[in-house]
Amino acid sequence: MSASSAQKAVIFDLDGVLTDTAHYHFLAWKHIAEQVGVHFDEESNEQLKGIDRLNSLKFILDQSEQRFSEQEFLALAEQKNKHYQSLISNMKPQDVFPGVRDLLASLRSDDFALGVASVSKNALFVLDKIALIKDFDFVADAAKIKNTKPHPEIFLTVAQALSIAPESCVGIEDASAGVTAIKAANMPAIGVGSAEQLGHADEIVAKTGDITLGQILRLLNQL
Ligand code: BG6
Ligand code: MG
Repeated sequence: MSASSAQKAVIFDLDGVLTDTAHYHFLAWKHIAEQVGVHFDEESNEQLKGIDRLNSLKFILDQSEQRFSEQEFLALAEQKNKHYQSLISNMKPQDVFPGVRDLLASLRSDDFALGVASVSKNALFVLDKIALIKDFDFVADAAKIKNTKPHPEIFLTVAQALSIAPESCVGIEDASAGVTAIKAANMPAIGVGSAEQLGHADEIVAKTGDITLGQILRLLNQL
């Protein structure tokens, strides 16, 4: 199947949906937060999921008593990214979440176009490490996205690149901001995680591997 013949699509977030890089982002941000005297835990991290690098750093530094020059701000962003890149440098194909490859294969066999909507500028590197690049018809270029999630821009960009109407796309996200972005793009949303964080999704699963083809077809009223 080529993407151009598809009538429907599934658009996946990457970090925390296809593989556990959300945890590596957490570890790298925690290190920065501790350095500037800000308490940071898994709960505060929920608010950073799906938020781009500079806005995430701003969120942390706004809670610090110290003030930072533009140069210091950019140096901290660079430090976080270097740390994150060292954490992902040894990722392997086995790091794809269980069940994800089977899900992608069953969507393919049902003529879905497949896209990735991650605001991470490291997304292609990670997809390459875990050997998933070829599974997708389009991967958004985070450098070209002006508005981070919860803005719908990245999901709409991927839908447009796949030539599929937003209402015929299902979005999959582990971030509260990501689910908001999908809904603002007028797509059904599947949240991966807890109802506490993702109550605004149309459906919630504990793990990406729990998602079924039937569930996605039902969300598109095609079953
Ligand atoms: C998102 C993550 O996918 O990418 C965020 O959920 C992260 O935690 C963001 O900050 C930006 O990633 P990067 O790799 O460009 O710093
Ligand atoms: Mg995510």
